[in-house]
Amino acid sequence: MKPLALVFDAYGTLYDVHSVIALCERFWPGKGGAVSQLWRTKQLEYTWQRSLMQRYVPFSSITEDGLRYACAALGLELGDAQLAALMQQYLKLSPYPEALPALEALRGRKLAILSNGSPDMLDPLVAASGLDKVLDAVLSVAEVKIFKPDPRVYQIAVDRLGVPKEAIGFVSSNCWDACGAKSFGFRTYWINRAGAPLDALDARPDHTIARLTDLAALVG
Ligand code: LAC
Repeated sequence: MKPLALVFDAYGTLYDVHSVIALCERFWPGKGGAVSQLWRTKQLEYTWQRSLMQRYVPFSSITEDGLRYACAALGLELGDAQLAALMQQYLKLSPYPEALPALEALRGRKLAILSNGSPDMLDPLVAASGLDKVLDAVLSVAEVKIFKPDPRVYQIAVDRLGVPKEAIGFVSSNCWDACGAKSFGFRTYWINRAGAPLDALDARPDHTIARLTDLAALVG
C-alpha cells in the first residue's frame, strides 16, 4: 500500500539542530561544535530518562537542561543572556535546504510533523522556516506527556490524521526513531545522511535513503 500520509520527525530530519554552532562558536570560540554535539546528546538522553522515570517536562525545559549540562561538562560558563539567545536560536533552526522541495514534491498526501518538541518550540520554528505552507499538521508529544519512542507518541498521528497506521509512512533521520516507528507499525523511511550503521534494535526501517528528496520516487 502506498502511504496516504507522511509523518516527519522535526529535529535532525527537517531541521538542522547543529545550525546553533555559529552562535555557540561566538560565545565559546573553538568549542561551538563540541557544545552542539553534547547538547543534542544530552537533550535526547533526558527524553528517554524522563520517560522511564515518568517525569515529563516539556522539550523546551529539556533542551535548556541539556545545554546547561553540556556547558558544565565542557567547563564553559553559560550566562542567562547566552542561554536565552541559544534558546531563541532553537526557534529559528535552519531547515535542511532539501526540506521544502522534498515536501512540495510529496503534496497530495497528508503531510505532518510528529515531534518531541513542545508547541512553544515547534510552532515558531515551522512558521519561521515557511514549512507551515506545506504541512497539514504539526503534532507534539505534549498531548501524551511522554517522549519517543513510546508507542503512545506514534498513535497521536493515527488519531489526529485519521489514517490507519499501515497507511502512514514515517520519516526520520534519527535511526532509533525510525526503529521505534517501525516497531509501532508504520512503514518507515530512515534518512541516513551520514552513512551511519543501522542501530542494533529489533525493528529495522523499511527503507534507508540518503536524502529527503529521494522520498517522492519511493512513495510513488
Ligand atoms: C524530534 C526529535 C527526536 O523532533 O528530534 O522528535
